[in-house]
Amino acid sequence: MKLNTVREADLTGKRVLIRVDFNVPLKEGVVKDDTRIRAALPTLNYILEQKGTSVVVMSHFGRPKGQKNPDFSMVPVGKKFEELLGRPVKVAPDVIGEEVKKEVESLKAGEVLLLENVRFYPDEEKNNPEFAKELASYGDIYVNDAFGTAHRAHASTEGVAHYLPSYAGFLIEKEVHFMAPLLENPDKPFVAIIGGAKVSSKITVLESLVKTCNTIVIGGGMAYTFLKVQGHEVGKSLVEDDFADTAKAFLKAAKDKNVKVILPVDHVCASEFDENAKPVAVDGIDIPAELMGMDIGPKTTASIVEELKSAKSVVWNGPMGVFEFAQFAKGTEDVAKALAESKATTVVGGGDSVAAINKFGLASKISHVSTGGGASLEFLEGKVLPGIKALEK
Ligand code: 3PG
Repeated sequence: MKLNTVREADLTGKRVLIRVDFNVPLKEGVVKDDTRIRAALPTLNYILEQKGTSVVVMSHFGRPKGQKNPDFSMVPVGKKFEELLGRPVKVAPDVIGEEVKKEVESLKAGEVLLLENVRFYPDEEKNNPEFAKELASYGDIYVNDAFGTAHRAHASTEGVAHYLPSYAGFLIEKEVHFMAPLLENPDKPFVAIIGGAKVSSKITVLESLVKTCNTIVIGGGMAYTFLKVQGHEVGKSLVEDDFADTAKAFLKAAKDKNVKVILPVDHVCASEFDENAKPVAVDGIDIPAELMGMDIGPKTTASIVEELKSAKSVVWNGPMGVFEFAQFAKGTEDVAKALAESKATTVVGGGDSVAAINKFGLASKISHVSTGGGASLEFLEGKVLPGIKALEK
């Protein structure tokens, strides 16, 4: 996948329209995690360092369903953005209209205008060409650095690229740099660690990664469906019987491809799904009828750690257990630590595993922590992300 990158664009004197993903967690008007804003700064700073450039920034925030809902205003995000960018950021009163147009046209070199939430207009998600054209009229050049939204074919992520010379920012470039090889030609041995609650939401990523990996670890709630189809007792654990055949077919495909599958061989269980539930260690694959699996046990963790020792590439998506409850977080924490200590190229994607890496303070020890939730999952599923396709050479 070869992308046109902002490095190749002649930016001198240009007004640059940039799409970022500033869909960040906000509580009482304060940004709680600014990772996504920080991740866009290298591209923004690079553009602003070029002679005579000004910048129009667009993003969505939350899901306001095409309504101008003040709860979804970009203003609080703009404040944090201004602080991190270290130069004034004006937040436009709207996305389109005469007033915004005037503000855009009066931008001087070095100035930054952040548009209001692009999802205040239903035309954004409908990818309406007229709306995209209107957005495109704000810039001479379009740069997309919104990896987290690249799986959406919206006006500001895909539509606009039809009307302006379009380039990838450094964040999209970096995400693709780390993730594309996992699907094409990973350094081997390649270990994929896939967890999370449901087989239904991860089966496509398993089916994609089985083509290139040597070992697949399956943890989290989804593991019990696989254990059940292997004939094990799983007690009251989460099981998706509708996916039994899919799980069986996956295990067969992995066997046919000579891919090693690691499933839990021991567990930390509970009698109910509750944040105060008492953890019960189960030292074996089978889970007693009155218990449900909540985390992987120490023997399972040890086998994952062992596997990582010789790995050259590792991707991790999805927690190993109910890590939001402290007594069931150890499996996820130990896997996160093993990744941090690994000499392999390590890539972590997906909201929950990224949250786990951040919770345990290990982000700086991972080769690449993706800023995409749904986007990184779809990328690993081998899907074409429309926001990225629009930037291909
Ligand atoms: C995300 O947070 O995953 C992205 O910003 C995309 O948001 P969406 O799922 O509302 O499109």
